Amino acid sequence: MITIKNKAAIAKMEEAGKRLATIFDKLPSIIEVGLSTLAIDAWIEERQRQYGLVSKSKGYKGYKYVSCISVNDEVVHGVPSVAKKLQVGDLVKVDVCAAWNGYCADMARMYFVENAAPRSQQFVEAAQRSLNQGIAKAYAGNRLSDISYAIQSEIEASSYGIVRDFAGHGIGKMMHEDPEILNFGQPGHGPILRPGMALALEPMITMGSHKIVVLDDGWTAKTVDGSLAAHIEDTVIITDAEPKIITRPGT
Ligand code: MF3
Ligand code: CO
Repeated sequence: MITIKNKAAIAKMEEAGKRLATIFDKLPSIIEVGLSTLAIDAWIEERQRQYGLVSKSKGYKGYKYVSCISVNDEVVHGVPSVAKKLQVGDLVKVDVCAAWNGYCADMARMYFVENAAPRSQQFVEAAQRSLNQGIAKAYAGNRLSDISYAIQSEIEASSYGIVRDFAGHGIGKMMHEDPEILNFGQPGHGPILRPGMALALEPMITMGSHKIVVLDDGWTAKTVDGSLAAHIEDTVIITDAEPKIITRPGT
């Protein structure tokens, strides 16, 4: 069942998004060569505490961290580690879901360490465009799969792979609610979008094969062929006008 959020719930989700986005805005200032992904997680945990945010990943199915940090060929759910230290040119994906007064926002962003190879930069931009194309279909009256189709079309226009083992999701009091939002599909299917629905859209793409494998840690998903992976996520509320992107406050 897809829950419809009332005004009070939406206001809390917006506040969660605003606070979470503030943390992400500050991440580039700490990302540097030699920093461990565990140190990034610890930094995020401290900021969450300061901002009154409650982690939704720590404690989730035994997961121990406030963020997922996936580097290069890791797609999503990278487990922060003291042994994993950032190197020049790395593509770092940081994914955080946190709640404010009981309501969640879910967000992921990508950062290059010092510099980006041009083809890696283009790849990241394709992922960003695909998310924006998905959001551009997040209007009341559209069908859910119109979003999926828009995301897929943008990715395939650049011939990148679409990871199929994970999907976006509804969100609210819980990190994962109905519906599941695939990053591929034909338009015109699934539930009709209605004002008050909250959706976390998160395309995951690969430079090579779309196939992924989950490591022995039970979490980290990486590409089978070792190719670069990109992931970006925003939380969006369906309104009776423009979609409200709560993880991009001020837009
Ligand atoms: N934003 C991620 C998601 O939507 C958060 C995963 S947290 C984890 O799946 F605990 F599942 F790793
Ligand atoms: Co998510």
